[in-house]
Amino acid sequence: MSNTIQKNLDYKKYVVSTKLQYFKPHATKIEKTFAEEISSSLNRDSKFIDPKYFYDKKGSDLFEKICSLPEYYPTRTEISILKQLQDELPSYLDENFRLVELGSGTSVKTRLILDILVKLQDTTEYFPIDISEILTESSEQLLKDYDGLHITGLIDTYEGGLQFLKNFDDKKNLIIFLGSSFGNFSPNDGCEFLKKINSTMKSGDLFLIGLDLVKDSSVLESAYDDSQGITAEFNLNILSRINDELDADFSLKNFSHYAIYNEKKQRVEMYLKSLVNQSVIVSKSNLLLNLEKNELIHTEHSHKFTLSQISELLDSTGFQIKQTWLDDNKHFSLTLASKN
Ligand code: AVI
Repeated sequence: MSNTIQKNLDYKKYVVSTKLQYFKPHATKIEKTFAEEISSSLNRDSKFIDPKYFYDKKGSDLFEKICSLPEYYPTRTEISILKQLQDELPSYLDENFRLVELGSGTSVKTRLILDILVKLQDTTEYFPIDISEILTESSEQLLKDYDGLHITGLIDTYEGGLQFLKNFDDKKNLIIFLGSSFGNFSPNDGCEFLKKINSTMKSGDLFLIGLDLVKDSSVLESAYDDSQGITAEFNLNILSRINDELDADFSLKNFSHYAIYNEKKQRVEMYLKSLVNQSVIVSKSNLLLNLEKNELIHTEHSHKFTLSQISELLDSTGFQIKQTWLDDNKHFSLTLASKN
């Protein structure tokens, strides 16, 4: 850490070993609580629940299962493209790049990028940014598997983590944002987020983003409504979470999973549909929720892109595309960009 150019004073540092340290913000940030967010997002005509609440322990496990479903093509397709990158990405990198990941991975995807870097470097630095403490478990597993790896984990929001990174040092960063997680942002929030990433980058830094592409609606709809009902379980689990954490009385049998591709907005929309007229109490949000039969609670948007939209998006947020890779079916894309 000798080349640190500015201290991040708002974070507490936890040193686990010479190869593993974490930074966590002091609990000074004022963020809305789960109870407050639910109180406002369910207390309106078009009701919604922020998809970030999918990912409690059970939701994260269900998402892992989704990733290996036959209908859910994004994960395996992105992995196949990452394999293709093993020969081509090294020409953009050198021994000075640190890997920064938005979201943390135990997953095969992080490893495919690490495999490239460890061949170019004696020691490789990995900087996962994740709000969830799951980061601590996955880091220890990675350290067992990669000898020259040093991990600095940031347990924070992406925005907080990016701000931290900006003030950290002058080493070159390869920032990766995989899995088409970008598609879950609204278009406005997505643009703001890309600008934030861009403003974190120095010239010479690189950004690799995985984005899902527009395709036949039947392929999309079955990816989000699989035959084993795992995505339905994932969607409904958000109600169990509200029951457990906010002392609510949602009866899951009174809701069904509903996923539809909105061609105009180029996004798969996920909802929970109320199957009956019903009232639900969410005690910790001080809320009595009245739902009509067939009323929808919106839980997720998953935007799909065309290649020209990807290039406009990156261009308008200050990036210059270096290369885009696709799979043979043109289902998914990975784009490498630098700061303009
Ligand atoms: C995390 N995110 C990119 C997934 C997606 O495809 O939008 C979440 C998901 N929702 C249902 N299936 C997967």
